[in-house]
Amino acid sequence: MAQQIATNVTWHDHKVASADRQKLNGHKGAVLWFTGLSACGKSTIANTVDHILNQMGKHTYLLDGDNIRMGLNKNLGFSADDRAENIRRIGEVGKLFADAGVITSTAFISPYRKDRDAVRALLPAGQFIEVYVDASLETCEKRDPKGLYKKARAGEIKGFTGIDDPYEAPEKPELVLDSNTKGIDELAREVVAYLESKGVLSL
Ligand code: ADX
Repeated sequence: MAQQIATNVTWHDHKVASADRQKLNGHKGAVLWFTGLSACGKSTIANTVDHILNQMGKHTYLLDGDNIRMGLNKNLGFSADDRAENIRRIGEVGKLFADAGVITSTAFISPYRKDRDAVRALLPAGQFIEVYVDASLETCEKRDPKGLYKKARAGEIKGFTGIDDPYEAPEKPELVLDSNTKGIDELAREVVAYLESKGVLSL
């Protein structure tokens, strides 16, 4: 975990608080944290949830693993330390977005429980919604949209999650999506229904 090394810094409270921003938006801020194996469907589901919420007039943003790794986190690889830093940064960015009153979806494998729990601990209670996109390795490997499992099996990619690197499934996620048997639209609607039931979509 990253240590704070900056000294002589002081926290400032701002005149416009998170509640003021939420009031303008007409709903709460939150982080929807999608986690699961590569090709489990998390990016596609997060994308669909983001789209549905946008159509409903909600303020949203989507942080997606592959995209973020081409920008903000382009200097990180796939060692356990780099994955931890990847998740820490996204946790901090997600926290800022949620503080701004935005419903933020993140789609990262985030294979380590302790990294995800660290993000949970960063956010106010109820603002971190862990969504486990549950698809078996067999399902993901069958889909293999980017051909990465094939490469990993051939030894061309080392340390690939699910093949020769671990994935620690959440123990108490807020939501489990059965991506083995259900389609994207149905699963996205389950997420939106959850947000509605928890009062995230209103004040
Ligand atoms: S995480 O483990 O740090 O959360 P993240 O979600 O950002 O991973 O990136 C995963 C994506 O990177 C995969 O969907 C895949 O396209 C690509 N990738 C490349 N190498 C690996 C690897 N060794 N393990 C997992 N994903 C990889």
